[in-house]
Amino acid sequence: MTALLDAAERLGRDELEALQLERLRTTLRHAYDNVGFYREAFDKAGLRPEDCRTLADLARFPFTVKADLRDNYPFGMFAVPEERVRRIHASSGTTGRPTVVGYTERDLDTWADVVARSIRAAGGRPGHKVHVAYGYGLFTGGLGAHYGAERLGCTVIPASGGMTARQVQLIQDFRPEIIMITPSYMLTLLDEFERRGVDPRSTSLKVGIFGAEPWTEQMRREIEERFAIDAVDIYGLSEVMGPGVAQECVETKDGLHIWEDHFYPEVVDPFTGEVLPDGEEGELVFTSLTKEAMPVIRYRTRDLTRLLPGTARVFRRMEKVTGRSDDMVILRGVNLFPTQIEEIVLRTPGVAPHFQLRLTREGRLDALTVRAEARAGATTDERAAAARSIAAAVKDGVGVTVGVEIVDPEVLERSVGKIKRIIDLRDAT
Ligand code: DLL
Repeated sequence: MTALLDAAERLGRDELEALQLERLRTTLRHAYDNVGFYREAFDKAGLRPEDCRTLADLARFPFTVKADLRDNYPFGMFAVPEERVRRIHASSGTTGRPTVVGYTERDLDTWADVVARSIRAAGGRPGHKVHVAYGYGLFTGGLGAHYGAERLGCTVIPASGGMTARQVQLIQDFRPEIIMITPSYMLTLLDEFERRGVDPRSTSLKVGIFGAEPWTEQMRREIEERFAIDAVDIYGLSEVMGPGVAQECVETKDGLHIWEDHFYPEVVDPFTGEVLPDGEEGELVFTSLTKEAMPVIRYRTRDLTRLLPGTARVFRRMEKVTGRSDDMVILRGVNLFPTQIEEIVLRTPGVAPHFQLRLTREGRLDALTVRAEARAGATTDERAAAARSIAAAVKDGVGVTVGVEIVDPEVLERSVGKIKRIIDLRDAT
């Protein structure tokens, strides 16, 4: 196994930390010298790049948030002349200006390396065929996965998202070993396999690399059983790079190893911003260590997780993301994440792994209805039992009362990429 690891994956912890500090100091200097936003922010905090003498000193530096990127739209966060930028990606967001990110030649090279490392950690090997069903375009998923798979020496099938019937046909005909796709879209493919009368367990697929949205252990079990594959988690975000910031190793499936030689993680209290010790849950924050075109310093991801020691690799792990603070619903004072409902729905007999959360307002209070889809053939009694069981499990596990509606099979809209779990009708009600 060690023969397959690259040099950084074989470093000792001390060597890794020395490398991180050196790269961190270079990055702070690069950001300060070349990005007006960082120069102002550091000056305001009374800090110079050289004030960072240890990794812990990073905590003295100011955070960067999504709004800072929007305020500097389009290219204000770039730290190199525009002609050195080889590629631009952007995420649309729900309102206003998109968030723009840029990459130099070397950044693209680093990105391909970390995605190649990710695919290898997932069990991919040179010569494997990789079906990429993440969207190609301004979204980082498709192209990020693509160049990483090529870098590893795989054959890429750039399917992109959508045209589900064709995806299934290509999987049957081209016989890929690996698929890279959002977990919710994988469930859409499952429906299509079944519609065609093809046993999803009979495909050539061995490994699925799932990310771009939160998913639970229950979802892993569902996908692994229905497709007879290993399902592992890949994490990333455009502001920090794209897919390939962290990856779960197939041999342990115990959370995602963060590629810490390129991305320095911290977990902070989402309210106070104080750095939390490893093991405590909070908001994940990243500082890029090698990026040229758009270094990010203490970027607040809004993703909630914990940092854990490395197992299959020297790098620390992050636990599977519970959810984004933006997706947290507060119901009568109780915090609720869609992943908590996913765990419950997926272990309830009689319902399919498809659900939606509908938020409405009743008087002055918010109300939530879980809409879950009946499995084909489920009887009226089974549906009623499922509704009762979901409501009771949410009451017990989350501590809040929700409505449950079991809808007919194939009624809920299917995902072709990142799924939208919460339908917010509060302003409409
Ligand atoms: O979703 C990059 C990506 C593409 C990652 C393909 C993995 C696979 P953005 O569109 O910028 O980039 O969205 C980033 O998606 O902050 C998380 O909230 C969420 N996310 C990404 N991966 C995971 C994951 C891509 N494995 C945002 N688990 C992040 C949970 C994830 N959430």
